Amino acid sequence: MASMDDLRQGVSESLPEVNEIKDEELRGQVIEAWAFALSQSEFTRIDQIRGSGVPDSPALKDGTQADHLRGVARIAHGIADGLERIHGDIGIDRDLLWACALCHDVGKPFEFSMRNQARWQNDVAATGFPSIRHSVYGVHVALTVGLPEAVAHTAGAHSAEGEFIKRSLENTLVHDADRAYWATMERAGQLEVDE
Ligand SMILES: [Fe+2]
Ligand SMILES: [Fe+2]
Repeated sequence: MASMDDLRQGVSESLPEVNEIKDEELRGQVIEAWAFALSQSEFTRIDQIRGSGVPDSPALKDGTQADHLRGVARIAHGIADGLERIHGDIGIDRDLLWACALCHDVGKPFEFSMRNQARWQNDVAATGFPSIRHSVYGVHVALTVGLPEAVAHTAGAHSAEGEFIKRSLENTLVHDADRAYWATMERAGQLEVDE
């Protein structure tokens, strides 16, 4: 079994953008969140997780969940770059945006775990299916490791769950970057399709 240090090391290797986070404590919490999430699953690295939005949606032909996270984080900052070039500072917290984007799917080791999928499918009446989506489990992970509430908010409401609330500024960027990522990759023929 991988030690927590092995997991942390793997997270840093899978997500080099974590080094863009200037605040040392926040950077450490992002790494800790992923290491903790992995430790609660059979995965030992983010790049072992299927590159898809949910466990049974089309996956990247060439890429893993780590590439998705990196892409969303880069897209979110790209949107911020474009807006700031025209409008100047509009209040986007770049450090927080890196953390929110890199952690938006931190609940996926739990939802994508084949062990959990099999367990839930085995008795849907008892567990529901899925029992807890990655968005909701992501809130648990973020708060457990002491990440700011704003990061937990993004994990919990980057997805459809966010339609019931008002998203924060950084979460709005992550939500749109996430949608843009999947829509663009699908149209570019970068997702596996059922023939
Ligand atoms: Fe998600
Ligand atoms: Fe995502």
